[in-house]
Amino acid sequence: MTADLRTAPIAPGRIPLIGHALPLLTDRLAYVQRLRTYGPIVQLVIGPKKTITVINSFELLQEMLTRKSDHFSKGLLFDKLKIFGGDPLPVAEGKPHLKRRRLMQPALHREHVKGYIETMRATAQPSVSAWRDQEILHVCNEMQLMAQGVVMAALFSSNPERGPAQTILDSVDTVFKAALTHAMVPIPALERLPTRGNRRARTANTVLHETIAGIIADHRAGPDTYDDLVSLLMTVQDETGENLSDEEITAEITALLAAGSETTAVTLAWLFHEIARNPELERRLHEEVDTVLAGNELTAEHIPQLTFTRRLIDETLRLHNPAWILTRRTTAPVQLGQFNLPAGTDVMWSPYAMHRDPHLYPDPLRFDPDRWLPERPQPPRGAFIPFGVGKRMCIGDQFSLMETTVITALIASHWRLKPVPGTTTRPVPEITVHPSTLDMIAEPRKRTATKATT
Ligand code: HEM
Repeated sequence: MTADLRTAPIAPGRIPLIGHALPLLTDRLAYVQRLRTYGPIVQLVIGPKKTITVINSFELLQEMLTRKSDHFSKGLLFDKLKIFGGDPLPVAEGKPHLKRRRLMQPALHREHVKGYIETMRATAQPSVSAWRDQEILHVCNEMQLMAQGVVMAALFSSNPERGPAQTILDSVDTVFKAALTHAMVPIPALERLPTRGNRRARTANTVLHETIAGIIADHRAGPDTYDDLVSLLMTVQDETGENLSDEEITAEITALLAAGSETTAVTLAWLFHEIARNPELERRLHEEVDTVLAGNELTAEHIPQLTFTRRLIDETLRLHNPAWILTRRTTAPVQLGQFNLPAGTDVMWSPYAMHRDPHLYPDPLRFDPDRWLPERPQPPRGAFIPFGVGKRMCIGDQFSLMETTVITALIASHWRLKPVPGTTTRPVPEITVHPSTLDMIAEPRKRTATKATT
């Protein structure tokens, strides 16, 4: 038995003319979690008539993102990211997407990523070494600079100084914030208004284009000097046999920077926030890195031994999943659960809300890395999806897991990051769910000499 989508439940709290736009703009995280309680499929109304279908069931999500994925394009959120120009991987569709993904995949494949470990460590090391005893660190910014530096060094062979790196970071942030606002309130006229936000987004876009033009120019000037993702993109040919234009390569590089930096950085920031609040977890992390590294620099051989570190990362990706909203749009009529979704239906879901569902995770708001011990009951398959699922799954998952492990071990082997007394940190859902402010005091560590028990 299937039913017309128009008979699906509409979330409570709809206000005439604006629908459910208000809580989506002002109370996002609480709202997406509340939506979870209204059933596997629920409808939101934005503005006078725009409808968004929210999927709350992990089984239906699996079906949508795997078996039925050919019936969906990436939808609202990603339409707005086309601000970058070109059709980079995260927004490309159909055959061009598949072709580009196949081309880029080897550079981000698990085995290949092992080769980046030394670059990851060497890129993050100067930032960590520059910290001073009792210095107050803006942890999010530090992590963002490190994560962006790692993507740029490993994939583009580019190592900007801290000043220019900060400008790139700020520009990506500005462009993304504008894209998200436009996705939340999809009224095209608002995007064209010469508002301060729209003007800043345009300027930031220009800065990004100019920076990347420099990277491309370097690669063109010395084609034999580089063996990285940028040189790979320069060899690609499109459907017509033409090489990618500079504009297309720029879009791809910007997209990688945007998709790969903030997500990893906020994961690191939340991880250090959590262990600072839990001295026993911090002790176990320190014990593990001291024992495994034994004062040596981290190499690929150490990674599989850092099992507690990995559980900390998985737990951070569960409780503080960077993605609080993702979208799709049906390209043809398709059945999902009991409903028929007509072509053009906007769909959204929240990995953040799903990872906090008490039906899937016992005591879901508790940060408990040991829930990932194999002897403990595991969530159902498809209920833990920090990197998405199916043909649009994150292409940088292995890169990011490796990088998070490297940076966590690097910091933990030298520093304790302690909260600044009297500060509170809350989650802010923008393009990722990032900490509001996270100022922490750097304190040099004295190493433990005991054997790890974790
Ligand atoms: C903790 C870190 C990260 C998280 C949580 C994350 C999460 C995700 C998710 C959920 C998607 C799928 C979105 C969807 O289905 O609509 C995605 C796609 C993507 N991610 Fe990541 N990501 C992370 C790190 C990275 C890194 C380090 C890179 C690159 C170096 C990267 C590059 C991409 C790209 C290019 C896509 C689009 C893939 C496609 O559409 O084929 N991500 N990411």
